Order: sequence, then structure tokens, then C-alpha cells
Amino acid sequence: MLFSGLEILPPDPILGVAQAFAADPSPLKVDLGIGIYRDEQGRSPVLSCVKSAELSLQQNQASKAYQSSAGNPEFNLATAELIFGANHKALTDRRAFSIQTPGGTGALRVAADFLRVRDPSTIIWLPDPTWATHQPIFAACGLATRKYPYYDAASAQLLFDEMTKALSEAQPGDIIVMHGCCQNPSGADLNEGQWRQIAALIKSIGAVPFIDLAYQGFGDGLDADAGPVRMLADSLPEMLVASSNSKNFALYRDRVGALTTVAQDRKDGQIARQHILQAIRANYSMPPDHGATIVALILGDADLRAAWEQELDVMRTRIKTMRDMLSQELTSLTGVDHGFIAGQRGLFAKLGLTPAEVAYLRQVHHIYITLSGRMNIAGLSANNVRRVAEGIAAARARAAA
Ligand code: LMR
Repeated sequence: MLFSGLEILPPDPILGVAQAFAADPSPLKVDLGIGIYRDEQGRSPVLSCVKSAELSLQQNQASKAYQSSAGNPEFNLATAELIFGANHKALTDRRAFSIQTPGGTGALRVAADFLRVRDPSTIIWLPDPTWATHQPIFAACGLATRKYPYYDAASAQLLFDEMTKALSEAQPGDIIVMHGCCQNPSGADLNEGQWRQIAALIKSIGAVPFIDLAYQGFGDGLDADAGPVRMLADSLPEMLVASSNSKNFALYRDRVGALTTVAQDRKDGQIARQHILQAIRANYSMPPDHGATIVALILGDADLRAAWEQELDVMRTRIKTMRDMLSQELTSLTGVDHGFIAGQRGLFAKLGLTPAEVAYLRQVHHIYITLSGRMNIAGLSANNVRRVAEGIAAARARAAA
């Protein structure tokens, strides 16, 4: 029988937390699981600029006829400009172009399909730790992955020397996956000097960086967060970027993202584009239009764009405030300096909690984080941050007893 004899699967490491949270009847429960921006009231509202663009789309959209496997051309241009800045040489030389995909996950999967067809022996290097879905995406395409050390949660240290040592074993043509900003799950990003060293190392090897840019605008700002990608495009002949608009436009369920390629020249770029479009056609054929068209409308209209940037500023500022508050509460409750939380960026922090401590937090304090110890900082609020810090301090004290 087709459907009998299948094994029961464990819950997804991230989506499973959302399911467990939904099933908890406690009024005290706190969701620090899936990476969604939440406001002080715990909501994830539709942005006002998105509402305005949707209204305009509803009134003015003339057709829903098919576009192409590359999606909305205005969205693609606006995305490339958002990532690189309008006057970046990679754009003016036409070495770089973006293709709309269903979210950043779709971009990763399309790239993985392309890479496997191009050369099934391609090795994908992933940071340890990384987003829980990276490895399964490449594995689903039959590509081998290797890990390089990135962050030690127990000591809250970036493992830069270990990272460069491991990556120096990479071979020409290997793909090095890195988070462009707001590293998921650690929140720890390389500094500018470290990025330059990595660029030089990748160049000397002849490997290719693949930047996962899911949080542009959630770290230090739209341009600052894209700084590493821009520098890599200046320094290296080739690169891939998977970008997402789930977070920075709060369009999570509309699945908006892009795969951007930087080739050594225009001709290579155009041929690679044909291969990527072929991979898309054989997969989902064309990406869903709605969210990408909303993003294109906002980025193409000066007023809507200014309104979006303001809403993004509010989100970024609140995340920083919550980082500061959690860091202060934990430092005062444990007597151990937690200033690193305030110094890191984006939605996530990984505090080195063991699976037993994570289970204790869930069962006793109704605080939900992933089993790996990752917490979504945006799930905190002035109302719950003290209680969350107390739960973490109690989990640690209990483990130490
Ligand atoms: C996360 O890391 O929680 C988000 O990127 C959502 C997801 O798809 O896992």
C-alpha cells in the first residue's frame, strides 16, 4: 500500500513550536518560536503601506494573466536595487539580476535545483549553527552539505578562527552559505574586517558565496545590512543571494522572495538565468504574484516607500529595545553579563540552553523557544520580558543545582 508502513515523523523544529504553543491553554504563554516580528501586543499586523498598495492594486490591476517563470519584472529590478543599491557596478554592468521566487525558501530551493543539475557533486558549506531548514533543502536536491563552525552559544562567541580554518578546506566551485545579516539563529554577525577576510579566502579558493538575506532592514538598516553582499559583489566574480520579503514587508504568508545571481559578465549571467528559469518551470512554473506586486508598488512609489521605511524603522527599533531589556534583566537576575544579546542583531538569540532547559521553560513557565535554544526576541514585550528572564534564570539555576 502506498500510504501504509510510513514512519511517524518528528515535528518540524520551528513549525512544531508554533503547534505546541497553539495547543497550550495557559494565559501566561509566550511565543518565542517561529521568526515573526511581533509588536508590543504580540500581533503581527499587516503593514499600513501594504494595505495602501493592496487597495491600489484592487482598483487598478487590469489582468491576472500569466506573467513568466521569472515573476514580476518591476519587483525583480526593485529587489536587485534594494540589495545592491541602484548604482552598484554589478547592476550597471548587468552582471546581477533577480528572479522572483516563493519566499527566500523558494530561492534556496531553486538555487539548489540549479546547482544539482549544473554539477551533482557540488558541496554546500553551511554555518554551524544555521537555520534548521538549510540542510534539508540541499539534501532534498541530493546535494552533500558540510558544516563550518560559526558560533558557540555556551560562551556566546563567534568562532571566526575555526570558521576560516574549516573553510580553507573548501574546493573550487564549492558553495559557501552565509547569512547576510542578523544570523539565524545566533544574531551574531561578522564585522566588516571579518567579511573582508572571508571574501579574500573565498576568492583564493575559487568557491562561491551563497548569501541568505532574510532580514535586510532588521539589523542596522537597509543599506548597512546589505553592506556585506555589496562588498562581496565588488570583490568576487560570482555569487548567489536568496532574499526574502517575509520579514521586512511582513508578507510572511504571501511568499515573496528572490534568487539573485551575480555572474562574472553579462553573457554568463543571461545563460545562467535561462537555466534557473528552466528549473522553475519544471517545479512550480511561476511564482505567486500578489505579494511581489505589492512590494513592487511600494518600492516604486516615493510616498509608499517612505512609509514602508518608517514602519521598518519601528520594527527594528522595537527589536533593539527588547534586546536591551532582555540583556539587562538577565544580567541583573543571574549576575552574569548578558550584554552580548544587546550587541547582536535581528530577531534571534541563542542562549546555549540545553533541550532539558528548553523543556522546563515550556512545561513550567509556558515559554516556547526552539529545542535548539533559539528565541525570537520580537516575541518579547515590556509586559513579559521580566517573566521570560526569570524563567531562563530559573532553568539555569535548576540545571546548576
Ligand atoms: C524562522 O527561522 O523561524 C523563520 O525563517 C520561519 C521559517 O520558515 O522557519
